[in-house]
Amino acid sequence: MAAEPVNVNGFQELARQALPKMYYDFFAGGAEDQYTLKENEEAFHRITIQPRILLDVSSIDLSTTVLGYNISMPIMIAPTARHKLANPSGEIATARAASACNTIMVLSISSTCTLEEVAACCNAVHFFQLYVYKRRDISAKLVQRAENNGYKAIVLTGDSPRHGRREADIKNKIIVPELKNLEGLLSTKIVTDGGSNLDALANWTRDPSFCWEDIGWLKSITKLPILIKGVLTQEDAMKALEVGVDAIIVSNHGARQLDYSPPTISVLEEVVHAVDGKVPVFLDGGVRRGTDIFKAMALGAQAVLVGRPVIYGLAAKGEYGVRRVLEMLKDELELAMSLSGCSSVKEITRSHVRTKHDHL
Ligand code: FNR
Repeated sequence: MAAEPVNVNGFQELARQALPKMYYDFFAGGAEDQYTLKENEEAFHRITIQPRILLDVSSIDLSTTVLGYNISMPIMIAPTARHKLANPSGEIATARAASACNTIMVLSISSTCTLEEVAACCNAVHFFQLYVYKRRDISAKLVQRAENNGYKAIVLTGDSPRHGRREADIKNKIIVPELKNLEGLLSTKIVTDGGSNLDALANWTRDPSFCWEDIGWLKSITKLPILIKGVLTQEDAMKALEVGVDAIIVSNHGARQLDYSPPTISVLEEVVHAVDGKVPVFLDGGVRRGTDIFKAMALGAQAVLVGRPVIYGLAAKGEYGVRRVLEMLKDELELAMSLSGCSSVKEITRSHVRTKHDHL
C-alpha cells in the first residue's frame, strides 16, 4: 500500500507511479511548450494573503451555494475525460467521492462510463459538460438525456473548436477508447496511420462553427441553466452576459488548448469586474492548495473546480483517493480561513489578497 500523501501534489507522484506513462502523460500534459500549464500554478504563487488577526474563528463555515444548490465547500470537480484510463471504476468512483463530500461533479461528455451510469450512483448535484458536435441532433439527444437523468446544469465548453496540440500524446501515439455516451448513436472508431486517435476523434466530432449566436439554439432545447466554460477576457464575459448564460467559468482548459493563454487566476478579476455581479463566476486551472482557493475567492470567484488533482487521487487510490483530495483541499481552505480571520466564505474579500497590481 502506497504511503498516504500529505497534500494533493503527493497524489500526483503516486499517480505517476501507478499509471502507464502514456496515460499519466495524457492526464498531466498541456499544450505545446506547456507555458500556460506551469503558469496556471505559478501565478497563484505571486499572490499573497493579507490576514486579519484576533477574530473569532472558533467555527468555520465552508458551505456555499452554486446556482441555488447548497454544497459543503466551494470546491467542485471539473469535467475531465476518460477516467477509466486512471482507474477501472472510472467516473463512477469519482461520482461516489463527490457524493460523499457533498459537492458538485461536472461529468465530461467524453466520459468512459455513460451519463446514465454516473447519474445512478451520484447522490449529490451533478452537471453535464457539453461539446457541441457537428451532428447537432446527437448533441440535442445528449442534453435531453442529461436532463432526464437529473443533471442540474449544462456546462458548455467554449475553448475547444479544435483539439489542442499535446505533444506527449502525439509522441506516445495514445489510442483512447470510443466515446461511451455516443454508443448506438455514432461510431467514433477512427482509422489512424499508427498515430494517436485523439486529435482526429475530437476534430471529427466537434463543430468548430458553433458560436455565441448558437447559444440561443442550446437554450431552445433545454430548461437547464447554462454555464459557459473557457472565458478569459472581459470581452467574452460581456458576450456571455449578452447571450444570457447563467454562469461563467474562467478556464483555459487546464492549459491543454491554447498555449500562452493567460493563467486563469491572473484574469479572474478582469472577468469579475466585467460581469459586475450579474451572474456567478467560477475558476479552474492550477488549483492545488486551500490557499489557492482562498485567493480565487478573494478575487471574486464564487467557487473553484479542480481537474488533475481529482484524477491523480483516482489513479492512486480510486474513490478513496478522490475523496482524500477533496478533503485535503477543504481542510487546507479551512485552515487558511482560520488564519486569515474569515469564519465563512462570504467573509473572504478583495482586501485579503495582494496581487502585483496592488500598491505594495
Ligand atoms: C480536461 N478538461 C476538460 N474540460 C472539458 O470541458 N471537457 C473535457 O472533457 C475535459 N477533459 C480534460 C481531461 C484532462 C485529462 C484534463 C487534465 C482536463 C479541462 C478541465 O475541465 C479543467 O478546465 C482543468 O483540468 C482545470 O485545470 P487543473 O485543475 O487540471 O489544473
